[in-house]
Amino acid sequence: MLSFNTNGPFQDNYKFLIGSILPRPIALVSTLNSDGTNNLAPFSFFTAVSASPMIIAFSPMIRSATGEMKDTPKNIIENGEFVINIVSEQIAEQVNLASTELPYGEDEFKIAGLTPIDSDIIAPKRVKESLIHFECKFRDRLSYGDEPGCGQIITGEVVKVHIDESVYENGRIITQKLQPVGRGAGNDWFRCTETFAMERLMKAQIQK
Ligand SMILES: Cc1cc2nc3c(=O)[nH]c(=O)nc-3n(C[C@H](O)[C@H](O)[C@H](O)COP(=O)(O)O)c2cc1C
Repeated sequence: MLSFNTNGPFQDNYKFLIGSILPRPIALVSTLNSDGTNNLAPFSFFTAVSASPMIIAFSPMIRSATGEMKDTPKNIIENGEFVINIVSEQIAEQVNLASTELPYGEDEFKIAGLTPIDSDIIAPKRVKESLIHFECKFRDRLSYGDEPGCGQIITGEVVKVHIDESVYENGRIITQKLQPVGRGAGNDWFRCTETFAMERLMKAQIQK
């Protein structure tokens, strides 16, 4: 087996992370810029954290080209609100376009061809074409530095969830209808076209 230390260039560490932790779900995060315009960007360092309170987390890194904080965390720290929109295969191309690194204040909804719609509780817009939306209030920030390659964890408390009726049956989200996509290494994406199920051996059964 090959082994590597992690004290080399951050780009090498990054390649190991994105090549081994996959497929990664994608959060399409909508925020408001300080002038009230929309900002939209995808993040695949993204996970669920807590059911009660309902907390989700994602990790915007420092921009490797400029060493600056990305617009999404900047806005969240400033005004404390964001929407996480779930990414289905039908909107993958638009989501990729939303990752374009536009100057601060330019609206990625426009370049991506996605439609902003009002949220119920918070000011940032939801993405109409996404089938699940989480309206979030900023909870925590854990920063690992201010240099290119440094990440940070941003958590949000979900204050409202919206689900398109087409993917929701008998209180469950139907994966085959949601058609979520994931991110892989480099420019790779994943389709979730096949699932398999396994019963779990619970503690009570082991003790029998
Ligand atoms: C599918 C996808 C996933 C991405 N995941 C991340 C991520 O987890 N962290 C990150 O810092 N950038 C990620 N990026 C890059 C950001 O989307 C990109 O830097 C974007 O311009 C940031 O926008 P902002 O400055 O408006 O926040 C991803 C890009 C794509 C296409």
